[in-house]
Amino acid sequence: MTTVSPTADLYKMSPEKRLEFLKKWAALSSEEIEMIQNAGSLKIEHANRMIENAIGTMPIPLGLAANFLINGREYLIPMATEEPSVIAAASNGARMVRVKGGFKASSTEPIMIGQIQVTKVKDPNKARITILEIKNSIIEQANKQDPILVSLGRGAKDLQVKILDSILGPMVVAELLVDCGDAMGANAVNTMVEAVSPMIEKATGGKVYLRIISNLADRRLARAKAVVAKEVVGGEEVVEGILQAYAFALADPYRCATHNKGVMNGIDAVVLATGNDTRAIEAGAHAYASKTGKYLPLTTWEKNENGDLVGTIEMPMAVGLVGGATRAHPVAKVNVKILGATTANELGEVIISVGLAQNLAALRALAVEGIQRGHMALHARNVAIEAGATGILVDTVAKQMVIDKKIRLDVAKKLLEELKR
Ligand code: MEV
Repeated sequence: MTTVSPTADLYKMSPEKRLEFLKKWAALSSEEIEMIQNAGSLKIEHANRMIENAIGTMPIPLGLAANFLINGREYLIPMATEEPSVIAAASNGARMVRVKGGFKASSTEPIMIGQIQVTKVKDPNKARITILEIKNSIIEQANKQDPILVSLGRGAKDLQVKILDSILGPMVVAELLVDCGDAMGANAVNTMVEAVSPMIEKATGGKVYLRIISNLADRRLARAKAVVAKEVVGGEEVVEGILQAYAFALADPYRCATHNKGVMNGIDAVVLATGNDTRAIEAGAHAYASKTGKYLPLTTWEKNENGDLVGTIEMPMAVGLVGGATRAHPVAKVNVKILGATTANELGEVIISVGLAQNLAALRALAVEGIQRGHMALHARNVAIEAGATGILVDTVAKQMVIDKKIRLDVAKKLLEELKR
């Protein structure tokens, strides 16, 4: 058996050659190859520079969430998502919230944490103090890596050191706190921690292994609050249903995971549309939700003295407007323009408000009629398309399946046949 994979040389090929290879490998038809090749606005040359082994692009629907009033400003919010009900739900949540003045959002300074793992130190307490003694020179060295960030008044601001008990013995971890301004900051922070680690090794006599940003960005939080009038949400019974839903999520991690998934439906869609890092945001969200040692909802819901609903949300929000795909991806660039945020903090405040709106709409639907009616109506269109419906037949088949309460591929195929006949 050879240890060299037959796919090992993919990276040396042009996208066209890769597609030729792929066509044989996966027995793809010419139509299938053409579909992958049809790259839309993100040209293949561009995609090939963005990632390794590019063959095409994968289109995801892009839509606009309406009705958002955040900190007194109207927004139209681009969302990229494959889930049918997400944008309708976000817009619906925002419609309910605007009656009482919209979302009040805020955020902390955009501080990211860069970690340096120092191992094999004889005396961890002494090493900690030694690192702190040279803190100013470490910060200075870090800031030499990014004069542009520093010229904007941002850059490395502080350093903290902690001692961890690990399965391999005590570990000293230095954490550089970097104000990333309008960047997400991974590149800036990672460059900085790599640059300062020799100083730390020299000062402590230890061995540095990992030097990397933390996605638990709990120094870079976004928050939002919304009041929803009880009449607008559907009356006292609906308020009670939403409070019960929240209590369930608070008490049970199985429900809580789904509650937070609903929040992330909205957040990820804006993060993706603006070319930001969905995985960084997801990792930060769930780590933050577990910070107390118990996995908790990212939102809170309570009733005020008028019986209206009050919702809040808070989570790490490491998003940027400069660097990365935000500037490199042509569609992300336009989406940022549509959204109209001028700072990364503003973008984060919009995104967090979408998360709260999404959660409100999901909990309301669950408390009132269950999620399936709205979901399935939208899903029915996908099933109709899967069955081969095109043009006007998509809606006709979908509507009939909703009326019959039978949204299934076999049913769609049968309806389609009948209609064509
Ligand atoms: C579906 O994508 C999201 C929901 O399950 C969220 C929730 O249950 O809160 C509806």
